[in-house]
Amino acid sequence: MKKRLLTGLQPSGALHIGNYFGALKPFVDLYNDYDSHLMVVDLHALTTLRDPQALRENIYSVVRDYIAVGVDPEKVILFKQSDVPLHTELAWIFECLVTVPFLMQAHAYKDKVAKGLEANAGLFNYPMLMAADILLYDAEVIPVGADQKQHVEYAREAATKFNLAYGETFGTPQELIFEGVGIIPGTDGQKMSKSYKNTIPLFGTKDEIAKAVMSIVTDSGLTRDETVNVSRATGNTVVRSVPFAKNLYSIHTLFKMQDEQDKLFDFYMSHENMYKPLKETLIEDIEACVAPMRERRASVIDSDVQAILKKGAEQAQERAARKMEEIHKRIGVSLT
Ligand code: TYM
Repeated sequence: MKKRLLTGLQPSGALHIGNYFGALKPFVDLYNDYDSHLMVVDLHALTTLRDPQALRENIYSVVRDYIAVGVDPEKVILFKQSDVPLHTELAWIFECLVTVPFLMQAHAYKDKVAKGLEANAGLFNYPMLMAADILLYDAEVIPVGADQKQHVEYAREAATKFNLAYGETFGTPQELIFEGVGIIPGTDGQKMSKSYKNTIPLFGTKDEIAKAVMSIVTDSGLTRDETVNVSRATGNTVVRSVPFAKNLYSIHTLFKMQDEQDKLFDFYMSHENMYKPLKETLIEDIEACVAPMRERRASVIDSDVQAILKKGAEQAQERAARKMEEIHKRIGVSLT
């Protein structure tokens, strides 16, 4: 029996390269070896998005993105969260098991409150909906970026609470965070995030990508030590500090082999005005990576998306219903 793999992305805006390298690419690299589920978590997006037309467009867009990056809808259950209402039902059941102080520790909620903003109750309960997304399918492996680690821990906690109250029903899902891509930095050096407006779009036009790349902050004041040959004859070296655009380097590493990348940086770092050519190379490298995917993306039409989601909804609903039957028995709402 294959292990169950599951992940989801919010259709709250255009996907960026942080989403791609942190979650989507790991999913694509793994999903053939698993019993795989890929969601568009539209109900989660409602915590921030109140524009129905935008949400609808984003849902189409995310499904296109999934296909573009190499997901074969025949080999995965690809579905939209809202098509399986059992997610919200299970979230409710979990909410009755966990405490308010426990949910108050969630980063997303805490960050909102720390900014002096009012969190809606959906954001507060968000981790339990995500726990339901995962546990309804007995998913075991959850490829995500590092920012979702706590949410998977919450899912484990919900499972434990349920098992303690009603008997062994759920397993222990585990986040899978690939090394080096857990937190992709944005153009300003913070974590790349739609809400920080520091993203490089995954499927932007070349101009949009170029604009984002050119805005990458390079005057961070950071330096790195470089070993310099001071005498060819003696082979003596000194170590000196040179300016280092760590952020630009980290982003570029995603698109280039490390040794090639190091050579490139070593070359330009000793030049005047070194960032412009480095950024231009990055734009070309992103373009080379994205162009074939962009082409595949363009071939996916609206009716393809509808058909994929319809089939996925049926498959997901069937699995979820089976699990919910067991849950209903456990909690005592089913009379047989
Ligand atoms: P979301 O939509 O915010 O992000 C989707 C995925 O992209 C990852 N990610 C990043 N990874 C590395 N560096 C970054 N800068 C970066 N920004 C985003 C996220 O970690 C995530 O894996 N709650 C989830 C969606 C969700 C889900 C689930 C995921 C709902 N139910 C069940 C897995 C399983 C979210 O808001 O992701």
